[in-house]
Amino acid sequence: MTDRRYVIDEMISAKSIAARIEDLCKEIQKEFKGTDKLVVVGLLRGSFVFIADLVRELDLPIEVDFLEASSYGDGMESSREVRILKDLRGAIEGRDVLVVEDIVDTGHTLHHVTALLKSREPGRLKSIALLDKPSRREVDLKADWTGFEIPDEFVVGYGIDFAQRNRNLPFIGKVRFV
Ligand code: PRP
Repeated sequence: MTDRRYVIDEMISAKSIAARIEDLCKEIQKEFKGTDKLVVVGLLRGSFVFIADLVRELDLPIEVDFLEASSYGDGMESSREVRILKDLRGAIEGRDVLVVEDIVDTGHTLHHVTALLKSREPGRLKSIALLDKPSRREVDLKADWTGFEIPDEFVVGYGIDFAQRNRNLPFIGKVRFV
């Protein structure tokens, strides 16, 4: 599949993403006003660009931590399992937490990660995803904040890869095989 030739058409511009992040940060600031020190948790690897832009726009006292989860199938989409490849460095008990995802697709990753973090008894636990593909959902969940709802297209850029490539594009693009 990676040998197939493809082009990338811009779907969401860097400017639109920046504008949406500004709006989202206003809402997040309202929600977490007065928080002691919010722990912003990026899910690796896809969220690394989004979290970098998000925290620089966020006018709140924060700490940043990362968690790496990998989802894999056993041949049946509905029995997806999620493994934790890298856990948080810090404890979150009693702390307010914001989980940052690049994209919610089937929902298994966010579902598993929020259940895990909840078991550690944080204060408020909220989530944000830059992109949401509701048509692909297998688990009934939605991030507390979503940047853009998108159709079931193959997207890359702004942290999201195609076979580990194209994460460094500054915009969200749509893969078109040629
Ligand atoms: C992608 C993406 C999300 C997850 C969403 O991660 O970054 O974390 O899949 O899919 P889901 O809603 O169906 O669980 P991936 O496992 O490809 O790893 P990456 O972030 O390192 O690219």
